[in-house]
Amino acid sequence: MSSAQPIRLLTEADLAACMDLPSGRRGPSEAKWRLLLTAGQGYGVDAREGGLAAAVILTRFDDGPAVLGLLVTALHYRRQGLAGRLVEHLCQVSGEDPIRLYSTMVARPLYERLGFRTVGAVRRHRGWYLAAPDPDPRVRRARAADLPGIVELDRRAFGADRRSALKHVTSFASSMAVADSGGELIGYAASWDNGTIRHVGPVVAADPDVAVGLADRLAREAPARVRLDIPEDASAAPSPLARWAVDHGLMARSAAPLMVHGSRDWPAANSDHYHAILMQAMG
Ligand SMILES: CC(C)(COP(=O)(O)OP(=O)(O)OC[C@H]1O[C@@H](n2cnc3c(N)ncnc32)[C@H](O)[C@@H]1OP(=O)(O)O)[C@@H](O)C(=O)NCCC(=O)NCCS
Repeated sequence: MSSAQPIRLLTEADLAACMDLPSGRRGPSEAKWRLLLTAGQGYGVDAREGGLAAAVILTRFDDGPAVLGLLVTALHYRRQGLAGRLVEHLCQVSGEDPIRLYSTMVARPLYERLGFRTVGAVRRHRGWYLAAPDPDPRVRRARAADLPGIVELDRRAFGADRRSALKHVTSFASSMAVADSGGELIGYAASWDNGTIRHVGPVVAADPDVAVGLADRLAREAPARVRLDIPEDASAAPSPLARWAVDHGLMARSAAPLMVHGSRDWPAANSDHYHAILMQAMG
């Protein structure tokens, strides 16, 4: 029985098998799987006929907190407990450290049963970008020398220290921009491609106007439809970036709940500086 198959660590050699897993809707690109398999740790269960029956990635940051992403079970192995076993295993691996994830509708009951609780949400915004007339003069293309400043801005907004993951992201990204005020970095953003969609995220800045300037810079150079995943607070008005997105052709679509597990708290963060997330699989 597949459910008795052991859970094993995945490597880049499992890339093709990972890409075979999703069915129906278009899945993550090869570049995205590769990023997650190198920046994070993949776990999987082998299929009887070769390849994988199920897989998931846990990206742990330097100080313990982690994001769970790309949980998928092959169609003909579903409802046999494989995803549940994988998630339980990752909860054991993480111990008391917090795990975050963005859930799909279908997976939410599974996570709830395993002790995850909902603490927020992101909403997808997607469409053809209608560029704003005046680019923000504080925004410029990022340089290698900006990396330490980017890591620090990211840590303050995200909480966990993602320096090693961000090194992988800099080579994966299509483009990165920073906002600079008198030589001081006051924001950064990245964009990356998944198939025919150009994702803009993360977008990080204390000032919401700077966040808009950064997103505009990366969206206006996009050759394709643009997507941003923007955190939302159901009890508050849409954020300035969400309003800007809708006003510029990036329509609000479905939301995904942000769920957490673990008895330790996620590191303190200025979460209002985190205007768009990097990607659901990496926080
Ligand atoms: C979500 C997903 C990963 C679940 O995978 P799975 O291996 O089928 O998950 P499990 O078998 O552990 O649990 C799924 C359901 O089957 C039930 N189940 C488990 N073993 C069972 C068995 N032997 N007989 C009958 N039902 C069983 C579980 O109780 C669970 O029920 P629920 O959905 O009502 O809570 C899979 O549907 C998938 O790949 N979906 C597309 C991608 C996706 O949405 N990923 C989540 C990203 S956050």
